[in-house]
Amino acid sequence: MAKHLVISASPRAMGKSVRTAKELVSKLRLRFPSDEVEMLRLSDLDIHYCMGCNTCGENNECYMEDGMVELLAQLETTDHLYIISPVYFAGPPANYKAMLDRFQPLFWSKQGNEPKRPAHLVVIGDGGDPHGFEPLVTCTRSGLAVAGFQLHKVLPFIGSELKPADIGHDLAANLFREDN
Ligand SMILES: Cc1cc2nc3c(=O)[nH]c(=O)nc-3n(C[C@H](O)[C@H](O)[C@H](O)COP(=O)(O)O)c2cc1C
Repeated sequence: MAKHLVISASPRAMGKSVRTAKELVSKLRLRFPSDEVEMLRLSDLDIHYCMGCNTCGENNECYMEDGMVELLAQLETTDHLYIISPVYFAGPPANYKAMLDRFQPLFWSKQGNEPKRPAHLVVIGDGGDPHGFEPLVTCTRSGLAVAGFQLHKVLPFIGSELKPADIGHDLAANLFREDN
């Protein structure tokens, strides 16, 4: 039995990322009925930003005991990771960047040597900004590599007219294609 973890990275509890994440969870449960499918909303987790103290370089642990404890425990047992993130000025929202930066203890402890598990990034945006979302992808790829994941697919859904149900449908078609 594999474990799939879907993370909504938006600071908004009921925005498009959360609704898209719920759509994806339903599709995953249908597609993999005997697998475990979990969802986390970063809006539910109090994750302080990294202070850069590098204490974790000495003991492989962060001194902050906040929502990151639960998130790291969930990631530890995850086989397939899906991150649904809004784009904010081409990059990640601050709360999601805080999560990625808090992977620093894993940088010291694992040193990126472990076999990487697959991860996918779903990018949500309204459009209208000419600067794209490459910084969001790069930050995600870099942070996830330290956490033991390799970013496989980047699936952008940019446009205020796009509905979570339609995005969920397209996601399933893309992620579950036989040639994946
Ligand atoms: C501070 C801020 C910056 C944003 N920057 C962009 C952007 O660069 N490109 C874009 O397509 N949408 C941008 N958006 C729109 C959000 O990505 C969009 O509203 C998204 O649906 C928010 O996700 P949520 O509904 O899950 O909270 C921005 C929104 C905010 C609040």
